[in-house]
Amino acid sequence: MVLSLSELDIRDYLSGKNDAALFAEADKVRREMFGDAVYLRGILEFSNYCRRNCRYCGLRRDNREIQHYRLTVDEILDGVAEIAGNGLKTVVLQTGEDPFYSAREIARIITAIKSRYEIAVTLSLGEHSREAYRLWREAGADRYLLRIETFNRVNYARVRPQRVWEKRLECLATLRDLDYEIGSGIMVGLPGDQFEDIVTAVRELTQLQLHMIGTGPFIAHPNTPFAGQPSGNIDLTLRVYALLRILNPLANIPSTSAMESAAPGGRLRGLQVGANVIMPSFTPWRVRELYNIYPGKNIQQDIDDGLSSALAMIARAGYRASFARGDSPLKDNEKVKIENEKLLVK
Ligand code: 5AD
Ligand code: SF4
Repeated sequence: MVLSLSELDIRDYLSGKNDAALFAEADKVRREMFGDAVYLRGILEFSNYCRRNCRYCGLRRDNREIQHYRLTVDEILDGVAEIAGNGLKTVVLQTGEDPFYSAREIARIITAIKSRYEIAVTLSLGEHSREAYRLWREAGADRYLLRIETFNRVNYARVRPQRVWEKRLECLATLRDLDYEIGSGIMVGLPGDQFEDIVTAVRELTQLQLHMIGTGPFIAHPNTPFAGQPSGNIDLTLRVYALLRILNPLANIPSTSAMESAAPGGRLRGLQVGANVIMPSFTPWRVRELYNIYPGKNIQQDIDDGLSSALAMIARAGYRASFARGDSPLKDNEKVKIENEKLLVK
């Protein structure tokens, strides 16, 4: 069973018909590609302001309950110093879409980081212009994360007011064109999505030939229109992880913090069904709880989530923490670039 699961198989596996075989195969593929290494990425969530109003997200504009924060450039650089000082070789800079930081200011931060440390810079800053993406790439940014969130175009327009699914895809194509490593993914169990949308997501995420695939269960936030909705099913999410690993042997796949919020031990289980990346938060303690995309985020699990307990979890899961940069082995794949041309609207 490698590389060519039929749609029927995807459906069967997603339905839980053969979890034991699915999970074993995913772990086998993961070990063939990455051995027992788990790459570490230190994440800095430097602002919780967002100009968007996604119905699922605690940082949405209309959530008046948020206590807002922004880190200064010095605070951001202090966070990066801590990440680098701990020997991690990737920093992930993440925010809501916060226009407070100009594209030039972000570029200056990237330049400062790259001049001080031998470290990969991953950005997760939402949708921006090609010019901004280019400026940041020229400043030295290496990777970009932008989840497509769902492959149900109609539901996308409903849950992300005023946003267009095709535009999101175009941002990903632009980022690839600019030679970033690109990452995307979905939320499993997003209200309005159906089982068939997850089948589609597994297939289409694979077609995108991503360097990184970040996925987690939806978790209802009380201060959003989706308060009280059921969370995404953790078992279904684990099946999505396993299928994505089997179909995308070379992709870096993080076991995300939403896994832990959905079920204690969920992140560890993600590592056992194909994930090979953990992203501990280095956001300063005084604001960490305020980056509250969904309940539980940066609260319970991250009290456990200093680097040392991330290391302990990795060991408990039966793997070895790696301090390598962990670039994607897909990076220089020409075929991927040619495929990308088709998606790019110039
Ligand atoms: N539950 C789970 N994940 C969420 N995200 C946003 N809101 C939620 C939620 N309620 C995810 C989105 C976004 C990422 C930063 O967090 O996929 O891209
Ligand atoms: Fe903003 Fe991202 Fe949350 Fe949407 S999902 S409200 S763009 S932080």
